[in-house]
Order: sequence, then structure tokens, then C-alpha cells
Amino acid sequence: MTERTSAFLAACRLEPHDRVPVWFMRQAGRSLPEYRALRGEGSILDAIRQPKVAAEITLQPVRRYGVDAAILYSDIVVPVAAIGFGVDVAPGTGPVVAQPFRTKADLDRLRPLDAERDTPYVLETVAAVAEELGDDVPVIGFAGAPFTVASYLVEGKPSRTYAKTKALMQGDPGLWSALADRLADLAIASLRSQVEAGAGAVQVFDSWAGALSPAQYERHVLPASRKVFEGVADLDVPRIHFGVNTGELLRLMREAGADVIGVDWRTPLSVARSRVGNDIALQGNLDPALCLAPWPVVADEVRAVLADNGGHPGHVFNLGHGVLPETDPAVLERVVQLVHDEGKTT
Ligand code: CP3
Repeated sequence: MTERTSAFLAACRLEPHDRVPVWFMRQAGRSLPEYRALRGEGSILDAIRQPKVAAEITLQPVRRYGVDAAILYSDIVVPVAAIGFGVDVAPGTGPVVAQPFRTKADLDRLRPLDAERDTPYVLETVAAVAEELGDDVPVIGFAGAPFTVASYLVEGKPSRTYAKTKALMQGDPGLWSALADRLADLAIASLRSQVEAGAGAVQVFDSWAGALSPAQYERHVLPASRKVFEGVADLDVPRIHFGVNTGELLRLMREAGADVIGVDWRTPLSVARSRVGNDIALQGNLDPALCLAPWPVVADEVRAVLADNGGHPGHVFNLGHGVLPETDPAVLERVVQLVHDEGKTT
């Protein structure tokens, strides 16, 4: 433990700090040989249920990269799986649901989460990582936003069109909002328990919200997401809100109430700021695919992101989405170094 305030927490709060903080979505995972060695076969949900393994996987990228935050090794479907909805994560595919959500009767399969009883392993992992890292490198807890989790429950598997989800949302708005509301409650219970266990910030992943029009988002998604942010507002930890392909939704996402908005690589940070305002922090937004290019290209792109931020104190450097499995870890190490060496805040 030290007295120094974390640069990551300061940036989230637009407070002065000495370097641009950086972490990577999916920093723990398949791009790391030490992850593959520890992870073994089987469902990721089994690895998550072993706190010693999950804590070690959470710590691996912190040690290797020197990032300013640790992201908990878990998954957005953990709470729904833990209450017995019948979800698994198929290697190479993603979440799959044996009996997808179809009718009002399926609401009964979504009972409230009692985090200490249902997901004690998550809380043990958070506590172990927080204990190991102290105050310098906060642990980011997370949950899936109602829309993104609902998309898996309704589609039954990853989807390109979200056709069934949109059909439910617009065809039976009452049932949809009841579903979204229950998922908001699950997210709130999970996030609160992670913060109580030691998480220093939380991120809400609405990864697939970019599939929606602003009108669909505003009417059918914003209310439940706003509920999630309000439900953790009293905890005094920064709340990050992220989605992919959300350039057209950024203004509405801001209304959901987070402290930090995640931006993917399609929207320059300066454009994002013109949409959400200057009085909120941004996180992003190097294109993860570019990490596979030769180093001089990567370095130029890192510098371009920093330049586009223009020294604004509310910038958490990240990728625009998760690390691709084929990324060379040495490149991410150099990205962290470069951001720390050259990132300036005013
Ligand atoms: O460093 C980290 O970010 C690790 C923690 C983490 C995982 N999943 C581990 C994981 C986080 C924050 C998530 C969130 C998550 N899970 C999201 C939102 C983030 C995003 O990428 O937009 C989503 C949509 C999911 C659902 C999910 N889980 C998908 C689409 C997949 C990929 C399927 C595959 O195998 O390609 C998963 C599996 C998963 N979650 C892996 C990891 C490291 C890879 C599979 C494994 O190692 O078994």
C-alpha cells in the first residue's frame, strides 16, 4: 500500500495525475502463453469458479505489461449462469443457452442474485487480487449491460443480426422491459458485491448495443442501463460504460450516467468529446487489429490517439475493443511503455 493516488482512478475522475493510465480489455487471455498454460481445457466458467486460478490469470497481464488497472477474470454471463439459467461459454464460440428466453414464464428463471451464496468464487478472486495489488493498481469489476446479456439469453448464441432480440424488444415491449429490468438487478447485485470485495472501479459492458438505432436504444435499452449506473452510484468508485460501434449512441450513453465512456476505434476521441462533452472521461481507443502491424505503425497510431485526446485529463488509454488472441504480448508491453513515456495531461 502506498499513499500515491492511482493515475487510473484520477483520470476517471478528471483529477490531476502524472501519466496517462492504460489497461487493455481482454488483457487476460489467449494472447498470453502463461494464460494458455494455466487455463487448460474445458469451459471458462470452470476456470472462473477456481479463485486461485482466476486471481492468477487476472494478475498475469498486470505483471507482464505494467498496466494501471487489473480487469477481473470472469465473464458477463457468470451471474445468469450462477442462478441456473442454463448458460455455458463454448470455447471459440461464446455464450450458449440451452433453452433461450422466449415467454413471460421464462422470467421465473431469472431469480435475484445473492452474490455471496451464488458467486462466492468471484468475490474471493476480487479480494485476492485487491490484496495482492494494493492501492496502486485497482481491480476493475464488471457486469454485462442488460441489452448485451439479454441478447445471449434471447438468441441462445452469439448473433450477427440480433433479430430475435429486436423482435422481442419491439414486438413485446412489456416483456422486454421486464427482462431488461431483471438483468439490471442482477448487474447491480453483482457489481455491488465486487466493490464490497475490493474492486476499485466497475465497467459495464454493453458490447453489442451498437446494433441498435438511437431510437431503439433510447426507448428500450437506456432505462435499464441507467438503472444499473444509479444502482451503484453511492459506492464512490468510477463507473465505466463501454460498447462497440456506438458512435451514434454516445450522447444517449452519456445519459445512462457513467463517469467514463468507452469509445471504440471507429470514433476519434475528439469527435466523441464533441458528442458527450468535455466534463466526462473517455476510455480508448487504439484499433486492436493494428497491434498486429509492424511496431512503427503501432507507435504512430498510439501517438495519434494521444494527440487526438489533446492532453485532456480524463483519458484512460485502452484498445477500442478486446486484445485479439493472435496479438504478440511484446507489442502490448511496448504500447504501455510508450503511453507512459509520452502521454501528457494538462
Ligand atoms: O481481460 C479480460 O477482459 C478478461 C475478462 C473478461 C472475459 N470476458 C474473459 C473471457 C471480460 C471482461 C469478459 C466480458 C465479456 N464476455 C464480454 C464483454 C466484453 C467484450 O468482449 O465485448 C462478452 C461479450 C462476453 C461473452 C463472451 N465470453 C464471448 C463473446 C467470448 C469469446 C468466445 C471465444 O472463445 O472466442 C467469451 C469467452 C471468454 N471470456 C474468453 C475470455 C478470456 C475466451 C475463451 C477462453 O479462454 O475460454
